[in-house]
Amino acid sequence: MPHDFMPGLAGVPAARSAVSDVDGQRGVLEYRGIRIEDLSARSTFLETASLLLFGRLPAKLELERFTSDIALHRRIKYRIIDLLKCLPEQGHPMDALQAAVAALGMFYPGRNVQDIDNNYWSAVRLIAKLPTIVAAYARLRRGDDHIPPRDDLNFCENFLYMLTDSVPQKVWSHTLDVCLILHAEHTMNASTFTGMVTGSTLADPYTVVASSIGALKGPLHGGANEAVVHMLREIGTPAQVRPYLKKKLQAKERIMGFGHRVYKVKDPRATILQGLCDRLFRECGASPLYEVALEVERVAAELLRGKGVYPNVDFYSGIIYDKMGIEVEFFTPIFAIARVAGWLAHWFEQLQENKLFRPDQIYEGEHDRPYVPIEKR
Ligand SMILES: CC(C)(COP(=O)(O)OP(=O)(O)OC[C@H]1O[C@@H](n2cnc3c(N)ncnc32)[C@H](O)[C@@H]1OP(=O)(O)O)[C@@H](O)C(=O)NCCC(=O)NCCS
Repeated sequence: MPHDFMPGLAGVPAARSAVSDVDGQRGVLEYRGIRIEDLSARSTFLETASLLLFGRLPAKLELERFTSDIALHRRIKYRIIDLLKCLPEQGHPMDALQAAVAALGMFYPGRNVQDIDNNYWSAVRLIAKLPTIVAAYARLRRGDDHIPPRDDLNFCENFLYMLTDSVPQKVWSHTLDVCLILHAEHTMNASTFTGMVTGSTLADPYTVVASSIGALKGPLHGGANEAVVHMLREIGTPAQVRPYLKKKLQAKERIMGFGHRVYKVKDPRATILQGLCDRLFRECGASPLYEVALEVERVAAELLRGKGVYPNVDFYSGIIYDKMGIEVEFFTPIFAIARVAGWLAHWFEQLQENKLFRPDQIYEGEHDRPYVPIEKR
């Protein structure tokens, strides 16, 4: 039966899912039916991860158990540390993360993905260990020692502690926690779809997550938050914004952190992140990048009017991480630390009714060509 070809599978449903929903016309994002505005104001990343994975807000004891399971699985084997030490210092942390996550699968080789108990512990290990791997690589590649996790610190406090060797003020760990909630899940995006294609072969969860990390790295997906900060630094001052954007658009180049396949209004996550920026920079001092970013949003609204292109989640997140003193190359790994919850929620859901992904193609090549021996070509 002939089908219409949809480049990028735009608008083609690839699964039935109850994990999250986006209304791109109204700018509404819900995780398991709960609005992202409510979650970012009232939940925590681990509670949100539990909601995504298990379908409902956890009861008090359930959340305590999940939080404690995560806290007790943050350590990574010394061989993973050795592996990270062997990687080039100038290597991209997303590559290091992908390699380390694939290697984790060799230490936890449960291959039976129908084993619900084993799948729970795989999810716990992945959510718990990603921050440790990211922080370890950040330190090891500049010649510092890896800092082991501290069980008494919460998820974000511990990550920032392992990264910087000091326990962060509440304002920083809370801000990071909200950022993780906002990045935890987003329906059928490229990295989730990648993980689902891998998962559909009944591969183990470490392989599923490693493949999702690979897809997240690209500049059209998670990598856009890095590109935004490079762009804002290149622009330099609010006065330079208009000439810079005009030149870019005339050259038919994209403004990074703008546009979305689904949202035709401002991404609700960008609105929340902007509010977070306002509060953070009022409390902790202004950010020159934020001043430039506000002007980019204003001028872009004028220049891109009518195209439905507005700031997306990547536009403001990098500015926050930059203010925290985090290196630009670590922005996308932080995205992965959050999104692993969404990837695994889709994986859990998919396993209930799995079917191997095997799409079709429209063949446009030739048929019945003769094989010409090499001496006659
Ligand atoms: C995310 C993205 C790939 C979605 O693209 P898409 O749904 O395929 O949209 P299209 O490429 O069809 O773009 C539609 C129109 O908007 C314009 N547009 C889309 N994003 C744009 C951007 N970031 N800057 C300038 N123009 C943009 C396109 O040039 C096109 O204009 P045209 O109709 O005159 O040719 C795209 O917006 C993009 O490249 N953004 C920058 C990267 C980014 O921030 N990614 C993170 C996503 S969360």
